[in-house]
Amino acid sequence: IQGFFTRDDLAGLQVLITAGGTREPLDPVRYLSNRSSGKMGYALARAAVQRGARVTLVSAPTSLLPPAGVELVSVETAREMYRAVMERFAEQDVVVKAAAVADYRPVVCAEQKIKKGTDSLILELVRNPDILSELGLRKAPRQILVGFAAETEDLEANALQKVEKKNLDLLVANDVTQPGAGFGSDTNIVKMVYPGGHIQPLPLMDKLSLAHRIWDAVVELRSGKSP
Ligand code: CTP
Ligand code: CA
Repeated sequence: IQGFFTRDDLAGLQVLITAGGTREPLDPVRYLSNRSSGKMGYALARAAVQRGARVTLVSAPTSLLPPAGVELVSVETAREMYRAVMERFAEQDVVVKAAAVADYRPVVCAEQKIKKGTDSLILELVRNPDILSELGLRKAPRQILVGFAAETEDLEANALQKVEKKNLDLLVANDVTQPGAGFGSDTNIVKMVYPGGHIQPLPLMDKLSLAHRIWDAVVELRSGKSP
C-alpha cells in the first residue's frame, strides 16, 4: 500500500542498516552493552521502505518492533554483526551503520555464573573487529557507506577524522551530551560530515525526519552531486 507521502526515489536499491547496541557476554547471565535504543536504525529502515528500497535490518537486541517490509537479521554480539554484514555486503547499494558496536568484549565468557567473593574484580577485554572500517576497505565505487559517530567532546574534529579514516561517503555525528540528542531520545541533533571537510549542521528533529534527511543525502550522493 502506497502512503500519501510515499516517494519512490530509493526504488530498485538494496540497502542494509545496522541498529541497536551489541551485547558481549560475560557469563551465562550477564553482558556488557551500551545505551543504544535502536530507534535511529529502525527509523532509517522505516523511511527506506517508505521510499521503495529493499531493506535488510541487521539488529542487535532492542525493544522495538521491526518496521513492516524489512528483512530482519537478529544478532547479539559485535562478531555476529560483523559476519551478518560481511556475508551480505557485496549485494548492497547502500550500507548505513547506525548500530552502537561494542569496541571490546570480555576475553572469556565464563561457563558458569561468576560468583561474588573478592572486593574487586578486574575484567580483561579484547578488541572487536571494526565493521565499518572493514566495509570502507572493501567498498566498490558504486557503493555508498554511511557511518554514525557518538561523541562527548571535540565532535567536529573526531568526526572529520573518522570520515576519512573509515573511507565513508557520509558520517552522521551526534553530540550525545546535548539534551534532545542521542541515546534513547525520540529526537536527535546531528552534523552531517562529508569527506573533504564539508559539515552541515541540522536542527533538532525527530528520528524519522532525520532518517529521511539522511536518505535525501544518499540520493544526492548517488546522483554524483557533491554536498
Ligand atoms: N563501528 C563498527 N564496528 C565497531 C565499532 C564501530 O562498525 N567495532 C561503527 C559504528 O556502527 C558507527 C561508527 O563505526 O557507525 C562509529 O562508531 P564510533 O564508536 O563513534 O567510532 P569508533 O571508530 O569506534 O571510535 P571511538 O569509539 O574510539 O570514538
Ligand atoms: Ca566505538
